Amino acid sequence: MKGIILAGGSATRLYPLSKSISKQMMPVYDKPMIYYPLSTLMLAGIREVLIISTPRDLPMFQQLLGEGEELGMHFEYLVQHVPNGLAQAFVLGERFIGNHSVCLILGDNIFYGQGFSRMLREAQSHTDDAACVFGYGVKDPSAYGVVAFDETGKVLSIEEKPLKPKSHFAVPGLYFYDATVVARAKALQPSARGEYEITDLNRTYLDEGKLNVTLFGRGFAWLDTGNCDSLLEASNFVATIQKRQGFYVSCIEEIAWRNGWIDDLQLEKSGKAMEKTEYGCYLLSLLNK
Ligand code: G1P
Repeated sequence: MKGIILAGGSATRLYPLSKSISKQMMPVYDKPMIYYPLSTLMLAGIREVLIISTPRDLPMFQQLLGEGEELGMHFEYLVQHVPNGLAQAFVLGERFIGNHSVCLILGDNIFYGQGFSRMLREAQSHTDDAACVFGYGVKDPSAYGVVAFDETGKVLSIEEKPLKPKSHFAVPGLYFYDATVVARAKALQPSARGEYEITDLNRTYLDEGKLNVTLFGRGFAWLDTGNCDSLLEASNFVATIQKRQGFYVSCIEEIAWRNGWIDDLQLEKSGKAMEKTEYGCYLLSLLNK
């Protein structure tokens, strides 16, 4: 399975913070935001990742993440010239995807909770000839894609930013698809707001009875970083967990090492390069545990 991180958009809700810097490059406590979605793909066991961003911001991501060899991964980069919808990622990424199944994650979505790796592996097992998305209960779902069920748990509808949501389950920005996703994305028509909507793409699977939805429980954290308050809350959340447990959240070098993608020597090299920070010391400390 291949992975795509979509890190485009103009993030006007974060102005002036994001006026000249990509939102997905902003700090969430001690690391750039994109580390969090990248770590999700890594927990899913995905080693080949395409990063899509704006012409302005893409070089910065290339500088940050390189070709991926320090993580035992492979990164490719692609420009999205016009921010015309999430579903365009699959049209742009056609060559990269080939005939593989693919996971798309939005560059500003942060997930954290016990059992997450298992859920990710399970979601992948549903992508032979289908899609798998998630549902997460939120107080105000109207800012998101919203999925509704009948009393037996069967998915009834999926709607983008409905004024009157049919449930309180928002669809987070993490999607698993089979290889038919490219053809489906190409066949979409732009929505009223002029975008190729991921929700319309998901509806093509739903109409064929091929949309699986897994619900995150209330003990699970899905954080969004759309405005200054939610950005600060996400930082505080990560700081709280890390200081309390001594384990880092979304530490990409640690995950690569635990996945067996890099050896002790590479972890030591990465740690030494950041020795002056707690982050670097943490990497080095893993070798002594
Ligand atoms: C996008 C999707 C929406 C999804 C959300 C998750 O919204 O269109 O369906 O629930 O991401 O973060 P946007 O961030 O473009 O408003």
